[in-house]
Amino acid sequence: MRTVKYLTIGPCFIFLCLLFSVPANAQFSRQNQDSIRKLTQQDYNDMLKILGITSLRQGPSGTPGASNAANSDESKATHYTSLPDPLILNNGKPVTKSRTWWKKRRPEIKEYFDREIYGRVPAKVPKVGWVITGISTDSVGPYHVTVKKLTGYVDNSTYPAISVNIDLTLAIPRSAKGPVPVIMEFGFSFPQGTRPASARNTQQAGQTGPPMSAGPSWQQQVLEAGWGYAIIVPVSIQADNGAGLRSGIIGLVNKGQPRKPDDWGALRAWAWGASRALDYFETDESVDAKKIGIEGLSRYGKAAAVAMAYDRRFAIALIGSSGAGGVKLYRRVFGEQVENLASSGEYHWFAGNFIKYAGPLTPNDLPVDAHELVAMCAPRPVFISAGSTTVEGAWIDAKGMFLGGALASPVYELLGKKGFGTTEFPPMETALTSGEIAFRQHSGGHTVGPNWPYFITWAKPYLKEREPQLLPGNKMPRGYKPPERH
Ligand code: GCU
Repeated sequence: MRTVKYLTIGPCFIFLCLLFSVPANAQFSRQNQDSIRKLTQQDYNDMLKILGITSLRQGPSGTPGASNAANSDESKATHYTSLPDPLILNNGKPVTKSRTWWKKRRPEIKEYFDREIYGRVPAKVPKVGWVITGISTDSVGPYHVTVKKLTGYVDNSTYPAISVNIDLTLAIPRSAKGPVPVIMEFGFSFPQGTRPASARNTQQAGQTGPPMSAGPSWQQQVLEAGWGYAIIVPVSIQADNGAGLRSGIIGLVNKGQPRKPDDWGALRAWAWGASRALDYFETDESVDAKKIGIEGLSRYGKAAAVAMAYDRRFAIALIGSSGAGGVKLYRRVFGEQVENLASSGEYHWFAGNFIKYAGPLTPNDLPVDAHELVAMCAPRPVFISAGSTTVEGAWIDAKGMFLGGALASPVYELLGKKGFGTTEFPPMETALTSGEIAFRQHSGGHTVGPNWPYFITWAKPYLKEREPQLLPGNKMPRGYKPPERH
């Protein structure tokens, strides 16, 4: 049996991937990496056994120029033989009414994602108690913020051997006159002393993430819009490797035992953690919990898409270079493939069942595809961000992500909203921002950076303060001034 491990885009990416694969507070040592690799392989093999899988197809290489390099030729990308229609019910009937979408079709799609791709959140997950562990003031560029450090303690009374403490930072502009919208990022967490130099130049409140592009940080841009920002650390919820599946929130619920094939993977666990942070925001009077945005890059772009799709309380999303396993069509033969996702380096993001699609099944057998994940977000606004195919690499498949949005558009339209308005892939740096699904490919690398300003401009009308609603026949009191717009 051949499997692909720890596929990467390029040498710099290898470094970043290794960094991001260890728990926040783990020692970044070779010994530790070896033991993670060994335990991962063991867990992976156990899952293959449960699934009765004896041979798997190998995924292509992420190294351009390698003899088995992933396809980057558009003319070979669309040879798939099936593509599920989000508006056709399992019984073959078309969905023509929004009621049918909500009552029948969306639940069908959700069930497939649960069972075959991301896994199910168990019926009983222990409660999370949020504790503010520190409040301080800080400044981000010219903006003063109140920073709350929070820990979400997961009740582990059913299995005290595993503890899960969710790490969350919330920053609110000190100038806020009332509750503000908050954009929450799934933050990369660098083990002590391993932060790349390029990421060290903007050490501001709660600053995390891969190297930033020039200009104000995303936090500063969000504050400028009058919003707050938050950073949740995914690896404090669930480790980013197969070895960790018997600990973290997944292991706690399973009492340290291996997963069942339809149990949740890390993406669903990270999304679950984001929902628990949202529970906290609902109790914090400095936050307008009806206007929470979720954002992430790469594997955390996938997590942001999953969080947005599953928790309808998230108001808006910025999905950065999510690629395969995110909003890129699984069936497209371009860049990263299902076979890569199902390998021992990445299977932990998904339900065990997903491995079947790398053998004996194929991506064409998937009962859903990524556009239906975007459709699950409808009618809420989603911005799909991509980097340049030459700089970021073909691996992420910008067009595949564009299609994830384009093919979800009919669902947005059924619900009275606007999709892309086109199925033509736009030229580089052309923002499609006239509808509730937005898309922009910037000319840089693997970062959301250059797309933040476009996201913020597009998001403003959705996150603006609402005019007070008058009851029929009533008038505004004399001297009423509408709230200031940001
Ligand atoms: C790898 C992986 C991608 C993932 C990326 C990341 O390249 O193949 O699916 O998005 O790592 O850093 O998250």
